[in-house]
Amino acid sequence: MRSLIDIQDLTVAELDALIARASDIAEHPAVYAEACHGKKLATLFFEPSTRTRLSFEAAMLELGGSVIGFSDADSSSAAKGESVADTARVISAYADIIAMRHPREGTAQVAAENASVPLINAGDGGHAHPTQTLADLLTIHRRHGRIGGLTVGFCGDLKYGRTVHSLLSALLRYEDIRVVLISPDELRTPAHLTAELGAAGLPYLETADLEGAIPSLDILYMTRIQRERFPDLSVYERLKDSYILTPEKLVGAKESLAILHPLPRVNEISVRVDADPRAAYFEQVKNGKYMRMALILKLLEEAARDPSPFPKMGKEEPGHICQNPVCITHTEQELIPRYDEEGRCIFCRR
Ligand code: NCD
Repeated sequence: MRSLIDIQDLTVAELDALIARASDIAEHPAVYAEACHGKKLATLFFEPSTRTRLSFEAAMLELGGSVIGFSDADSSSAAKGESVADTARVISAYADIIAMRHPREGTAQVAAENASVPLINAGDGGHAHPTQTLADLLTIHRRHGRIGGLTVGFCGDLKYGRTVHSLLSALLRYEDIRVVLISPDELRTPAHLTAELGAAGLPYLETADLEGAIPSLDILYMTRIQRERFPDLSVYERLKDSYILTPEKLVGAKESLAILHPLPRVNEISVRVDADPRAAYFEQVKNGKYMRMALILKLLEEAARDPSPFPKMGKEEPGHICQNPVCITHTEQELIPRYDEEGRCIFCRR
């Protein structure tokens, strides 16, 4: 059984195939209108979301399927103390595929290991958000006709922004990408990710200067400062207005620049930028729905071919505690920590 936990679970060939299928869906929606007739998607959202949850739901409805689920943890049995593993087992009896969002890193892995239907990670803490990356990749592809050979700037909260982490992990595998990481010092990209960029031979530059970076960019990926992940809110208050993109700051930008943002926007992009043809963030929303449609189809097709359980990887180390304080291993009942050959936690992948 195939599930999607991390964008690295998909090969570049699979990403290309999803892009091709999503483009076909966008052009010929009627062909797909009954493709999931009789199938149910469960959206289990333990953390607030509007667009990602509704995007999944719209995707399934446009494929002719139906949708069940909940949109806040207080209305689920988690409020009674149910484990993630049990929730995944139970929901598998009701639905053909699950999309789950949770504030703890590694939750999607636990859920996938215990579900008997495919599971899609719709965001697990600051770790990953692979379906947002699918939306981002389709948007980049539609704007530039390719994904390789581009200079991509990321701006804002590069420390906590899971969409940044997932898109960086994806870009690692494309040819001739250059990355400019624009953030305040306190919100720099986690060291394990810059180490991966280095190991992949992908040139990157870290800077705090947005205006200085703009002229070199083909893509500018703006992000919200992730208030909910700050242990100390006074630090958030100090950093929240670090970057605000305005038309004036775009004066030296390329004509072909595409400005992306996973949304919600707080104030990182002035509304005066919205009319600029380089603003791509609202089409990115539509692309997210098409990519989720393509992904749901792919995972259901693969589950029909191979219904065997999702594999449990890694080596059990009962006495060892994951160093990541927001890892699911700290809260999930009787979950024995497991590590890969490089000593990374199987769940939060730190
Ligand atoms: C992002 C998320 O949830 O990580 N939003 C989204 O999925 N549309 C980005 C964010 O919340 O800032």
